[in-house]
Amino acid sequence: MKRRISIDDCTRSGQGQGLKRTLSWPHLVALGVGAIVGTGIYTLTGVGADRAGPAVMLAFLIAGAVCACAALAYAELATLIPRAGSAYTYSYAVLGEGLAWIVGWSLILEYTVVCAAVAVGWSGYASGFLLAAGIDVPHVLLAGPHAGGIINLPAILIVWAVAGLLMLGTQESARVNAVLVSLKLVALAAFIVIAAPAFEAGNFSPFMPYGFSAHEEGGMVRGVMAAAAIIFFAFYGFDAVSTAAEETKNPGRDLTIGILGSMVLCTLIYMAVAAAAVGAMPFQEFAESGDPLAHILRGLGAPETARLIGVAAVIALPTVILAFMYGQTRIFFAMARDGLLPERLGRVNAKTGTPVAMTIVTALVVSVIAGLFPLAEIAELANAGTLCAFIAVSVSMMVLRRREPARPRVFKAPMPFVVGTLAVLGCLYLFISLPAMTQERFFIWNTIGVIVYALYGRRKSRLASV
Ligand code: ALA
Repeated sequence: MKRRISIDDCTRSGQGQGLKRTLSWPHLVALGVGAIVGTGIYTLTGVGADRAGPAVMLAFLIAGAVCACAALAYAELATLIPRAGSAYTYSYAVLGEGLAWIVGWSLILEYTVVCAAVAVGWSGYASGFLLAAGIDVPHVLLAGPHAGGIINLPAILIVWAVAGLLMLGTQESARVNAVLVSLKLVALAAFIVIAAPAFEAGNFSPFMPYGFSAHEEGGMVRGVMAAAAIIFFAFYGFDAVSTAAEETKNPGRDLTIGILGSMVLCTLIYMAVAAAAVGAMPFQEFAESGDPLAHILRGLGAPETARLIGVAAVIALPTVILAFMYGQTRIFFAMARDGLLPERLGRVNAKTGTPVAMTIVTALVVSVIAGLFPLAEIAELANAGTLCAFIAVSVSMMVLRRREPARPRVFKAPMPFVVGTLAVLGCLYLFISLPAMTQERFFIWNTIGVIVYALYGRRKSRLASV
């Protein structure tokens, strides 16, 4: 379980694949923002306000600060170990196979569940949009049993639409991505411009009606940390930039700016959106809406801009699903290549050049989850997996600094032990602020993972035969 892959091998195999180095830092910032801006800001702002009241602002700040520390660790390791597999590969090279397996297994959970969560968030905007267009879809087809419906049909449809594109071999073109990212940002900017003049300081008082730490109150999860634990969802996606390590012109500069730049940009935008939202309307009035930003604008008498937000969400949120579903197959590949999962499962279809079988299995699982479960529960489960990966990357960064201080590093995180420790402690605090049920589900998933490893990966690992 302690066997490790060699960092030098990772670097060499990265060089040998001959991927074209066509991307520069503006592409990577766009890639990062494209994967980050999604259901988190567009929908979970409402859930966060429900849990923390106006102090949802503070929740954004806390989640953003933890992510910024983790992003520094990611930037250092992504430039040092430029290979697909992200947190799983870094852990394999630094912490050993056993922990890497747990990280990889958690990443599979994260990526699958993120797709489901974004699909459910998308469905909220799509239904608002259909309603505004006068198309009346029965409620039973718009929500799962938890919300008085039967199945969330739009969420299932969008999952299969994205899976279909991926199977056809759609390349995530930097230009298309940039256009969609711009659309998402323009919509958020329009929201700020309309909502900011309606700012009323009175809406911020009382600032922290449900207190700071996560707790149960009247059958609801409340508190700033409970909000931060779910708002955390809004910030990740910058890790997707690390997978482009082999395609950047100047990895040291581009990955660093790409990872950190997209993080900083999104944090600033999020703070502005959250402040404008809470200032424009008492939080109770938008907290339970499926499309809170559009809801606020409709309340402010700006239905046109509300429609723009709806259109931007409907057109651009699927890019997040695309990025994560693509990432899912990539993580799977990395694990299959190392022998920890059956190689046959990750096989590429000869005709399309895409992992068709794997994409179908992923879409099947994602659509069942998206069709039946509530957004908050799904997003929190994804957060648990991501927190595990962020902890692993931060620990790996610190261990490697100790173990190989002289190894040349293209990017060095400033004050590595302070930043790394803050990231680990912040992630742990967010993890314990998640509802007990989410933590239980996460541990059940990993128990299954440990059994799979004991029965399969431990013996089949490529390193077992070296
Ligand atoms: N950060 C991504 C989102 O909010 C996962 O949709």
